[in-house]
Amino acid sequence: GYFSKISGCTEIFLKMALILGMERSCDETAAAVVRDGYEVLSSSVASQIAKHAAHGGVVPELAAREHLTALTPVLDGALSEANVTLGDIDAIAVTQGPGLIPALLVGLSFAKGLALGHGIPYVGVNHFIGHIYGAFLDEANSALADPASYPLLALVVSGGHTSLMLIDSHGKAAALGGTIDDAAGEALDKGAKLLGLGYPGGPVMQRTAEGGDPHRFEFPRPLTGGAGKPLAPENRWNFSFSGIKTALLYHVKNHAGEDGMLPAELLKDTVASYQEAVVDVLTRKTLAAAKEFGAKTIVVAGGVACNSVLRERFEALTPSGVRLRLAARKYCTDNAAMIGGLGFHYWKKGNFSSPDIDSYARLPQITQVPFLD
Ligand code: KG4
Ligand code: ZN
Repeated sequence: GYFSKISGCTEIFLKMALILGMERSCDETAAAVVRDGYEVLSSSVASQIAKHAAHGGVVPELAAREHLTALTPVLDGALSEANVTLGDIDAIAVTQGPGLIPALLVGLSFAKGLALGHGIPYVGVNHFIGHIYGAFLDEANSALADPASYPLLALVVSGGHTSLMLIDSHGKAAALGGTIDDAAGEALDKGAKLLGLGYPGGPVMQRTAEGGDPHRFEFPRPLTGGAGKPLAPENRWNFSFSGIKTALLYHVKNHAGEDGMLPAELLKDTVASYQEAVVDVLTRKTLAAAKEFGAKTIVVAGGVACNSVLRERFEALTPSGVRLRLAARKYCTDNAAMIGGLGFHYWKKGNFSSPDIDSYARLPQITQVPFLD
């Protein structure tokens, strides 16, 4: 049957592709149903943040165990919210990597079992490209398909990544650079931990910084060619955030009171200044790369792209003539809608995964994105 009835409606719809996306690469267990690569019918996320907060960061084995118990309810939630059953699903898209191997393996094994058990094809997708794709969800006439959007420069900035990727109108992609040590989100998480603010650091840093003076303290801007240090050509599009964190450590030591803690009066301005250093580096380097490579679109995606100061700065500084696409906040942090949306493009081309695909921890070299022909 090439026609199907969508529940609750009496009209008959031309059958469109329903992809079930599943994401378990770190500390979130997520499932989503996405129609035709963009229309998100449901997106369900079970966060383990509370479980990991006690440890001040993500514990891989704990993440894997939590995924085991969260998998079924999250899947059921996504299917029922979308008003579909597994029988309606055309393909399953699952995060293959990069990420934490124990978490990825649980998700991939579950997806394989589900797919094989129900005779549904499945495809393993790249989480990093998924983040970029997340900036284009919920949109029928996607700017993705418009040649005038290219070259497209994507900044993926999360707890695991800080990378710039350039994509042309044929989908040819090249990583311009990435972090040589910590990711930006990691710098915020570690900074917050150092200040005793909790986990994850990004949101709590943003809240704490509100109303603070972002220029009271000067934190370093690594690999920007400032501070009299010429920038080595190979680091032109690379990032480094471990130095900012070290500077914070010394800042706290220098200003610490009797109790070894930063005086409360300094906290707001300290956090605002720290966040400002991260935002300043990210925006300056991205805008410089956009200029250098003549980008027509700048995409900002990944968990740190939730940050209001970062979003406002990009809005203020992106030159007219360049389209700015900030991923919607709900698609910035890890979610399965971005995976289900991206998976559609593999399904369309009949590119399914073999039964023996394995997870991978590190970002492979990407030369092509699958959402352009
Ligand atoms: O994309 P994501 O959910 O997971 C990874 O793939 O890493 O990103 C998580 C990161 C964490 O480092 C978290 O602190 C950061 O995103 N984050 C934020 C904000 N919300 C989440 N960073 C800055 N400001 C926020 N509002
Ligand atoms: Zn992510």
